Amino acid sequence: MPRTKKAYVCRECGYSSPGWLGRCPGCGAWNTIEEEAPAPPAVVRARRGGAGVAVGGPAPLRLSDLVISGDERIKTGLEEFDRVLGGGLVAGSLVLVGGEPGVGKSTLLLQALLHMEAAGVPCLLVSGEESAAQVKLRSLRLGGAESGLPLLTETQVEQVTAALERIRPGVCVIDSVQTLWSADVGSTPGSVAQIREVTSQLLVTAKTHGIALVLVGHVTKEGELAGPRVLEHMVDAVLSFEGERAQPFRVLRAVKNRFGSTNEVGVFQMGEQGLSEVPDPSAVFLEEGDLRSGSVVVPVVEGSRCLLAEVQALVVPSALAMPQRVARGVDRNRLAMIVAVLARRARLSVLQSDIFVNVAGGLVLEDPAADLAVALAVASAYQGGDGACGLAAFGELSLTGKVRYVMQGSKRIQELSRRGFDRILAPTRNAQEYLGGTGAPSARMQAVSDIVQAVRLAAARSDSG
Ligand code: TYD
Ligand code: MG
Repeated sequence: MPRTKKAYVCRECGYSSPGWLGRCPGCGAWNTIEEEAPAPPAVVRARRGGAGVAVGGPAPLRLSDLVISGDERIKTGLEEFDRVLGGGLVAGSLVLVGGEPGVGKSTLLLQALLHMEAAGVPCLLVSGEESAAQVKLRSLRLGGAESGLPLLTETQVEQVTAALERIRPGVCVIDSVQTLWSADVGSTPGSVAQIREVTSQLLVTAKTHGIALVLVGHVTKEGELAGPRVLEHMVDAVLSFEGERAQPFRVLRAVKNRFGSTNEVGVFQMGEQGLSEVPDPSAVFLEEGDLRSGSVVVPVVEGSRCLLAEVQALVVPSALAMPQRVARGVDRNRLAMIVAVLARRARLSVLQSDIFVNVAGGLVLEDPAADLAVALAVASAYQGGDGACGLAAFGELSLTGKVRYVMQGSKRIQELSRRGFDRILAPTRNAQEYLGGTGAPSARMQAVSDIVQAVRLAAARSDSG
């Protein structure tokens, strides 16, 4: 037997080193490196010990001989969830649903399971986190207390796979993958080695029996799935469930999807009876907005849909040597860049001010087209006045202060027009493209080519432009 070499692995990011270190060079976290004796992954063991190897190796298949038996998706009963998955769950696939504790992962999946079980799909819920009584209580709130959904409160993965072999459900949810452990690995549940081992054992079982397996995974504060690198390449889809706990809105986003687009988002609302779908999210994200100074609306494209979001900014003189930059829903580095462009190119003296930016409704903007709206919200908050009142804008900002063309401009302008926004600032080429195409001229759409012009147009009173 080969001598097993010790490995030291960071439980946050999976960084591996031959010796112990106080600080992980991979993610910079302290005291996260643990000693781990690597176990051969289950796939390897299954191959070694499993069915005898065919003489001469396996025969390859020809593409022409393969018949695809329709794209049969298992509907979760939540249309938003299905869309993010690419139309529903695929048999034999492995889906990871990540999110911060309390965001509603268990609720989402229990709701989906209750629906699928009622629709005649054999399901199984493996709960390593909550007791049977807790799951029952949750099902009461979700109106599924009388459901025949089978529940297993088990944390040892070998027991879980044995149950899967016996029950052979169509869909199985593991809540959560961090609570599962294998007797083959010496480290504690939730460590990188355990997660890797548990997932590979489940993967073999799921693929062999065509079980659609959904793994719930907790995300650390920094927004990374614990052991993300080991999990993300093993699963077919990675979905991220996001939202502010204090806010009712939740966004489900596909980070990776072998069976669909990665840009899709699903929007939900958490209520007394669990999650409900929000088919027209723009309406809710804008609903509470008062659309005055320091607030600009941006159309962001998320997958096949265009959502309207409201960017709010507050700019106040700072009493600190290092003025604050607080961003919610916008990347902090992106905000720093936008503020620098405003200071340098548009000559706004905002560098000595504390700047707060917030996206209403808890939406996280990743679309670069939001740059212009963020810039104009900050500029308008700094200048005061009601110039930006009812203003909508989109476009990517370059470091030189140019407003750049973005994808799907016409779709954005159409969505804004549909919602009655008639003051729209759009990148020149996007505006031309829209007017040149089938788009009807929007009453007050203005083409902008750089930030100076955009700030001037935004500040012009809505009744004078
Ligand atoms: P949960 O699904 O337990 O989150 P996670 O599994 O991601 O940790 O949901 C947690 C929150 O959702 C909890 O604070 C209670 C709230 N909630 C509702 O508001 N309504 C409901 O119907 C349910 C079931 C939960
Ligand atoms: Mg949970």
